[in-house]
Amino acid sequence: MTKGKRIALVTGANKGIGFEVVRQLARKGFHVFLGARNSDAGVAAAQKLNREAEEEDYGKGRSGITATFIKIDVSRPDSIRRAAEEFSRKSDRLDTLVNNAGILLDDDKDVLMVAPETFETTLRTNTLGALLLAQAFVPFLKKSDAPRIVNVSSGGGQLADGADGWAPAYCISKTALNGVTVQLAAALPKFAVNSVCPGWVRTDMGGASATRSVAEGASGVVWLASEAPHSMTGKFFRDRKVIPW
Ligand SMILES: NC(=O)c1ccc[n+]([C@@H]2O[C@H](COP(=O)([O-])OP(=O)(O)OC[C@H]3O[C@@H](n4cnc5c(N)ncnc54)[C@H](OP(=O)(O)O)[C@@H]3O)[C@@H](O)[C@H]2O)c1
Repeated sequence: MTKGKRIALVTGANKGIGFEVVRQLARKGFHVFLGARNSDAGVAAAQKLNREAEEEDYGKGRSGITATFIKIDVSRPDSIRRAAEEFSRKSDRLDTLVNNAGILLDDDKDVLMVAPETFETTLRTNTLGALLLAQAFVPFLKKSDAPRIVNVSSGGGQLADGADGWAPAYCISKTALNGVTVQLAAALPKFAVNSVCPGWVRTDMGGASATRSVAEGASGVVWLASEAPHSMTGKFFRDRKVIPW
């Protein structure tokens, strides 16, 4: 890993918004740990970005290697623990953690019918996963001069506007994720900890009719992960502006 580079970890980064966040952070000169639960998909994604970095010289003549695959299933505490151990063998510092991994299950349709398994799996992945990642990686983040945690939330979790009946387990998981953001921001006063809604984005989750490209969806996440004023913490953003919870 090139010395002096800022270091980021992005979960659920083998495709969709997470993959694009890794690409945009790499272009800004970060070394990025690309988290994925599926090793083949994660290795392939990191190789693709490193080839691209070599061709486009993100390393500016230093090193084309900008992404390192790290296996993390955010729904499994043992996997998160192992990932932190693996990370410690490669770096003692982390500057930015992006909790991006998320699921929206097919049978998550009706709050009066949602199955307990659907609810549990969704909250374990979208909410508890982000909290456990933060717990596991705070020791490395504390070594950074300007540590950041970005939780990729959704307007669907916004009590002020949006949490109104579609995908109830998903929306509740994102409301609760915003609670995780506020709690972490209070517990970590030297950190910038924020939630961000990427908008409606054309990914496997967002579908083909979504209004935003993946690059547009990723850009607000990347801004918070890299250059937003560090004094802004404990807030919810969309398009670089604070939005109500
Ligand atoms: N797309 C939108 O319109 C939209 C809007 C608001 C918020 N968001 C949020 O943005 C984030 C990214 O969504 P996306 O649209 O890029 O979705 P996506 O294309 O479905 O990608 C989701 C990513 O999360 C990973 N993931 C799921 N469960 C995981 C687990 N247990 N451990 C590790 N990784 C896991 C997936 O890995 P696999 O490939 O292995 O499944 C995949 O890499 C999510 O948090 C989502 O809620 C999206």
